[in-house]
Amino acid sequence: MKIVVRPIEKVEETEGLIIDPTMIEFGKTSVAQADQQFYLLLGMKKAEKSVEDIRFLGGETVKAVKGYTFTGVSVDFEKLASGFDGFSVEDVVTAFLEGWYLGGYQFLHYKKEQETNIPALAMDTEQYGVCVKTAQTRANAVNLTRDLCNEPANQLTPSLYADRLKTIFRDSKVQVDIIEADELEQRGFKGTATVGKGSGYPPKCAVLTFNNSEGHHVALVGKGVTFDSGGVNVKTGRDIAEMKMDMGGSAAVVGAMKLLADMNAPVHVTAVIPMVTNVAGKDAFLPSDVIKYSNGITVEVGNTDAEGRLILADGILHAQELGATTIIDIATLTGSIGHALGLKTAGIFSNCEADLWKYKAMGELTGDPVWPMPLILDYKTHLKSDCADVNNLGTSSFGGAITAAVFLHHFVEEDRKWVHIDMANTARPWKVQGYHVDGAAGFGARLLTEIVQAEFVK
Ligand code: BES
Ligand code: ZN
Ligand code: ZN
Repeated sequence: MKIVVRPIEKVEETEGLIIDPTMIEFGKTSVAQADQQFYLLLGMKKAEKSVEDIRFLGGETVKAVKGYTFTGVSVDFEKLASGFDGFSVEDVVTAFLEGWYLGGYQFLHYKKEQETNIPALAMDTEQYGVCVKTAQTRANAVNLTRDLCNEPANQLTPSLYADRLKTIFRDSKVQVDIIEADELEQRGFKGTATVGKGSGYPPKCAVLTFNNSEGHHVALVGKGVTFDSGGVNVKTGRDIAEMKMDMGGSAAVVGAMKLLADMNAPVHVTAVIPMVTNVAGKDAFLPSDVIKYSNGITVEVGNTDAEGRLILADGILHAQELGATTIIDIATLTGSIGHALGLKTAGIFSNCEADLWKYKAMGELTGDPVWPMPLILDYKTHLKSDCADVNNLGTSSFGGAITAAVFLHHFVEEDRKWVHIDMANTARPWKVQGYHVDGAAGFGARLLTEIVQAEFVK
């Protein structure tokens, strides 16, 4: 037996269904039966509805039918679309399906439990074929980002991560090159080699190339710390297991590369992903160590737990060496960003400040919200070191996300456009609702894709 999804917006009695005020609340789902037919009543009451709201409904719908043995789920898309002003039926179908595929995500690799049955959508694939394809492509990329973040640290060491990247992009136009531990120093990745020294899992750097356009060149740099124990400045507290997701920025970059390649987007983009496990060991780097970067800048290690910026600096330098004119880095960089913005929206910085509101709008559209943050270069004074050019630890206990961005700015050449996203607060969903599920949010893949594409529409 099929179940029919019925969007409801007003209190009424229709076809044997009694709709009461609690049921029309936006995103509310209730299963009802009338005349031998099952219905999933889907609350739609909300003043201004966005594309993200449509995805939200797709997510709530799949969650509501999950586990049932219905032979199919049919949705009256025309009726659904009539509740969304300014959107075509195709827009609505695409967004709803994206939410459906994302909301149905399950990460069960390490559980005895089998996947919970999700009844298939019964729909006209002829009419909506393009919508299905687009939604699946987008959701696959986000689910790939989620998969990588959800992996435990012993299953995603730098070398397992590198193998995984080769597999992911095997049959695509994305070329995967791995810079091995013994080449890092000599190829200029001083920060990555230093941070990775203490671990039995050697550090690496992945460089992914997707050259599908003439003209300029964009680089994505993602923090790939496969576990952040803090190093010698060891983290304390129960939540340290969270630090398996300290590669969330790199996972966003991988998701974006996958999405861009699957869309065959006309872009030239290179991803630089330094991968390290930050632990203390007999060879570990120490507070007071000085690192000399390939651009000549020296950095004193004030704190081994501020490791993200040390490896991102390598990534930014390498991206510039490769000729990238726009560099976008993304990282689970500071606890401070969550103090500034809460858990719903990441922080975005740029040396082209005028573009920040444009990125905020893109974030709202894609479902990866970001909020403009100021790059206050005067805070350089907080990064003074006695014996090196810069310290990786700020002296002020305020504005830590800004200080981290100012640190990275030291490595950006003047003529380059640079965007920095601190997503330490959004690696997990702020609320498990709509299409969000337990575990990683899959943050960043869609937003990065949008930003990269916009760079090529001039
Ligand atoms: N990986 C952390 C940032 C983080 C914190 C991510 C919480 C997710 C949740 C980063 O490497 C770190 O430890 N940052 C320090 C920097 C400090 C030592 C200057 C921080 O934010 O406390
Ligand atoms: Zn750290
Ligand atoms: Zn970290």
